[in-house]
Amino acid sequence: MEKTKVGIIGLGTVGTGVARLLLDHGDRTARHAGRIPWLEKVVVRDLTKPRHVDIPEGVLTDDIQQVIQNPEITVVAQLIGGIEPARTIMLQLLESGKDIITANKALLAAHGPELFDKARQLGRCIAFEASVAGGIPIITNIGQCLTANQVTSLRGILNGTCNFIITQMQDRGEDYEDVVKEAQRLGYAEADPTLDVNGADTAQKLSILSQLAFGVRVNWEDIPCKGIDELDIADIHYADRLGYRIKLLALAKLVGHEVEMSVGPTLIRKGSPLAEVQDAFNAIRVHGDAVGPVFYHGQGAGQMPTASAVVADIVDTVVGRGQLTFNNLELWSESNRPRSMADAGPSINRYYLRMQVIDKPGVMAEITGILGSNGVSIASIIQHEPKDQDSPATVPLVIMSHDTTQSAIARSVEQFRQSENIESEAVVLKVL
Ligand code: NAP
Ligand code: HSE
Repeated sequence: MEKTKVGIIGLGTVGTGVARLLLDHGDRTARHAGRIPWLEKVVVRDLTKPRHVDIPEGVLTDDIQQVIQNPEITVVAQLIGGIEPARTIMLQLLESGKDIITANKALLAAHGPELFDKARQLGRCIAFEASVAGGIPIITNIGQCLTANQVTSLRGILNGTCNFIITQMQDRGEDYEDVVKEAQRLGYAEADPTLDVNGADTAQKLSILSQLAFGVRVNWEDIPCKGIDELDIADIHYADRLGYRIKLLALAKLVGHEVEMSVGPTLIRKGSPLAEVQDAFNAIRVHGDAVGPVFYHGQGAGQMPTASAVVADIVDTVVGRGQLTFNNLELWSESNRPRSMADAGPSINRYYLRMQVIDKPGVMAEITGILGSNGVSIASIIQHEPKDQDSPATVPLVIMSHDTTQSAIARSVEQFRQSENIESEAVVLKVL
């Protein structure tokens, strides 16, 4: 059987999984590709580091030119994270005639237009299934399987690390710092896990999915975004008692010709599919105007699920399907009529509010009055007796609203700030 020579740049969590699949299951990939995707070179930074895969002699190198300058290597999996040198390497690979597979969502979210334009100019392709939701084939599904539809909304748990952290804290009472370390050990977290927990990784993925689903060209940093790094365990417990779980949720929906987008910890009613997504799993609910709702669920981070997506892209590229798809998608292309991001102010949702208030006559009336004056209707309130006899005692107050606008909640929060009876900044979370 003929070979297509493949290079891998980066042999960390994902690169190791890809090398394992190509080396240990070459029969499988060859059967699907009709040729052997042959691992010719693997580039790393540090040749002395212990590796968790047996790379054949002569394949491992710290000299990237051994890939760039080798015309026999036509397909490269670019599996290093961050922006630079990943961006420059991608451009060099394209210029030297390689088709590229990447899992680097940070790079695509920041430089997708530049990289995709360059690939189109040079007649090359970039495949990126692994960049969103790990092993779930969401890019292929939105980009190819749902093309009869106008996607009208997306709701997704897109960061495995955050879902793992929340699940461990909520269901097993684990401590935040310990679970972050465990997510790093398990290979779920980014090299800098701040990007996971502050929501940036989710916003980057949402920007990629939204480009694909709606043609919205948005800077991921403009997406309203909150992470789980400021989530208080108290809110997880209150949500639980109210019958909800908190998930870091990415939301995008079509509003007229614009797209409303957000990322943030969100209360989701227990028993609904998104609420039950556990550990490092991801899930995405896509609504298409023809198909209706479709739900995808699977492992969203980690070595082998991510490698599964990368290798599927390698096979597609070796077969030649990747090039066809890339050309037809016209992603981040000028010919793709871009939509813009909608103002979230008029967006309607239910909200969860928590604040620490002074326990004295008239305070509840003041708070409900503020909400009422802004047209916010209250669905439920929890207030417990104070724990100690400090004077004046303060108590947590938890309010669930009925449907209201984001701007009505923002106005209310601004008025809470002016009150001497409210001791803390109000925690505000969306309720799905
Ligand atoms: P990682 O474990 O940190 O591995 C990165 C690899 O890149 C290392 O092997 C490193 O070499 C190599 N590298 C870094 N700079 C290099 C350079 N200048 N030249 C050559 N090699 C270089 O990262 P990862 O978790 O595998 O993630 C890789 C990419 O996949 C990232 O973009 C990440 O966002 C994305 N991703 C990760 C997951 C996941 O679950 N981990 C899932 C989906 C997508 P050394 O080993 O010699 O240091
Ligand atoms: N750090 C990412 C996550 C890897 O936890 O979801 C998968 O993109």
